[in-house]
Amino acid sequence: MISFARGAPAPECLDAELLADCARAAIQRDPAVLAYGPGGGYAPLRGWLGARHEVDPERVILTNGGLQGFVFYAEELLAERPGRVLVEAPTYDRPLKILARLGAESVPVAMDEEGLDPDSLARELEAGETSFLYTIPTFQNPSGRTLSTERRRRVVELAREHELPVLEDDPYGRVRYEGDALPSLHELEGGTLVTYASSFSKTVAPGVRVGWFVAPAELAARIEARAVATYISPPFLTQATVFELIDRRSFEPNLERIRRLLKTRRDAMRAALERELDGAATWSEPAGGYFLWVDLPTDAAALLQRAEEAGVTFVKGSDFFPAARGGAESMRLAFSYASPSEIDEGVSVLASLVRA
Ligand SMILES: Cc1ncc(COP(=O)(O)O)c(C=O)c1O
Repeated sequence: MISFARGAPAPECLDAELLADCARAAIQRDPAVLAYGPGGGYAPLRGWLGARHEVDPERVILTNGGLQGFVFYAEELLAERPGRVLVEAPTYDRPLKILARLGAESVPVAMDEEGLDPDSLARELEAGETSFLYTIPTFQNPSGRTLSTERRRRVVELAREHELPVLEDDPYGRVRYEGDALPSLHELEGGTLVTYASSFSKTVAPGVRVGWFVAPAELAARIEARAVATYISPPFLTQATVFELIDRRSFEPNLERIRRLLKTRRDAMRAALERELDGAATWSEPAGGYFLWVDLPTDAAALLQRAEEAGVTFVKGSDFFPAARGGAESMRLAFSYASPSEIDEGVSVLASLVRA
């Protein structure tokens, strides 16, 4: 099966030798990483991230991947400020499932090629009590789209106007293939309302399970308390391994290598789509990240069934909408995992099915 479904890095992205060496060095440097410790994470890594975000290290909470942090954040916000959760339509499917499990209503906010539509956000803010906005402004999962700077400013204005807590989820921002980084919502707003979340899953390895949240001090303390109540301590060994990678100045060269590997895949998918589906379908133009969103002239669920019979898989668009309301004729293609030649072959298979 050629998988365009897996939002995972290609195996070559994971440098096992380098990480094994960093893990050994991390234990030797500081054997306390094998003990229990603070729920908010490994102090040197919190300190480094705090300096990068220009906040006190206590405001940085290291979580077991970004998704675990999402659970803590959502539980805290829904308890403190009950209401609807505004999400991009489409959005990352796992938070939708988590919110449903927590009994929260996810309300879709429209987006287009420039990302979340601030007018639609404004309308939803007037329509009922809101707990928080969950947004992935850069190289969004699933669409690959990026919120323009002008819209970032509008979203921040709206957040201020409505005292709206915002969770900015940014695991893909550093996986950029061209162009310059845009200011984060967190930077534009100053970190009073916007909590920033990211992860080393896409820049080091998902298996290290190291995510981080930069939250207002009081919220950070509550998230840390939830972490302690859930798992006592996070895995210091992998957090210290990531810190060792940073400390020996291997993080940036490793990221550059990952970018090169993934850009080749993004380019292969774009070239194959242009060759095979030009005029028949349209797709997003991501300058980074893992995903490309394709609007089809046909039903995506039926296409998926036939594609899987032919050995290719993807995720159908409706999985990324609250209550599956939308995306019936769209699909998410992850270009991060398959090899460039598999991408070429897989897109040919999909295109022949679309044309048929
Ligand atoms: C937008 C987004 N947020 C969070 C995550 C979770 O990443 P992790 O828990 O591995 O840090 C993912 C993973 O695919 C993602 O796409």
